[in-house]
Amino acid sequence: MRYLVTGAAGFIGSHLAETLVAGGHDVAGLDCLTDYYDPALKEENARGLVLERVDLAADPLDFSGFDGVFHLAGQPGVRSFGDVFPLYLRRNVLATQRVFEAAAAAGARTVFASSSSIYGEAERYPTPEDTVPAPLSPYGVTKLACEHLARAYAKGFGLDAVVLRYFTVYGPRQRPDMLFARVVNALASGGAFEIYGGGDQSRSFTYVGDTVDATIAAMDSAPTGAVYNVGGGEEATVLEAIALLERISGRTLDVRHTEAAAGDVSRTAADVTRIAAELGWAARTPLEAGLKAQWEWAAARVAAG
Ligand SMILES: NC(=O)c1ccc[n+]([C@@H]2O[C@H](COP(=O)([O-])OP(=O)(O)OC[C@H]3O[C@@H](n4cnc5c(N)ncnc54)[C@H](O)[C@@H]3O)[C@@H](O)[C@H]2O)c1
Repeated sequence: MRYLVTGAAGFIGSHLAETLVAGGHDVAGLDCLTDYYDPALKEENARGLVLERVDLAADPLDFSGFDGVFHLAGQPGVRSFGDVFPLYLRRNVLATQRVFEAAAAAGARTVFASSSSIYGEAERYPTPEDTVPAPLSPYGVTKLACEHLARAYAKGFGLDAVVLRYFTVYGPRQRPDMLFARVVNALASGGAFEIYGGGDQSRSFTYVGDTVDATIAAMDSAPTGAVYNVGGGEEATVLEAIALLERISGRTLDVRHTEAAAGDVSRTAADVTRIAAELGWAARTPLEAGLKAQWEWAAARVAAG
């Protein structure tokens, strides 16, 4: 099959593109290497991939000849209040509208990377997909807008779209702004670590390899218009995950507590009944094994200088 992966130089997109190539598919990556974090890391992620530098929010898009589009490009991060909001609008809402337009014109099935952030403080835990969305961050609002765009393009232009709501993805190459990446960097290089809030926030942490498997399964066999939670099997608090990483690394973290960040929810917990029943997917990687893989990757990079 011929696939497009948007955001292919990013954390999840680069793993996805590699897995598709290893599976014998013809894969083109699109990414404009935004400076949300060091673009050199993105170049490293995309090494070995066919990558075109395209700004999805501005450049002409022609997706003809592709069987499917994995749309993972976007502006992540829940700290999205204030002056940065236009970036979220542009890189999430506008870019996604243009991707859906091009995919519908090309008749290419599209899998869209949405987020657990659309739930906010959910009314039910674990949270099933039919829970009323109530995002608490501008980021979550833009992701929810993209989900509505998927439905509008399906209705108006026959777009064959599937929506995946990823729950806190981790593993090697995790974005440097994310919790575990900051923890492993602090453990590997010895710096202090600032935790937002008390550390009792809990998450359905999801290993990147499992996330990639769910994403490919969705492209292969999800019904048109399906929406799935993609969440790890084990819920853990931030402090529990840090304790695990301390044990894995054999080091102790110098933790400082700072104010809880606006937009951060106290809990996410994925109900994955639907994706298990319809796609036969379930997270396979225990938190400890996934954290070990991330620690080893980060420690090797720090050791290599
Ligand atoms: N990592 C998570 O835990 C998580 C959770 C929920 C949802 N998501 C979503 O999954 C997707 C991938 O997340 P990630 O953690 O790999 O993020 P990432 O920042 O590592 O990857 C996103 C990539 O998109 C690219 N990009 C942004 N705007 C673009 C544009 N206009 N044109 C072309 N490329 C553009 C960036 O350069 C980047 O390489 C994002 O859409 C994110 O919102 C991630």
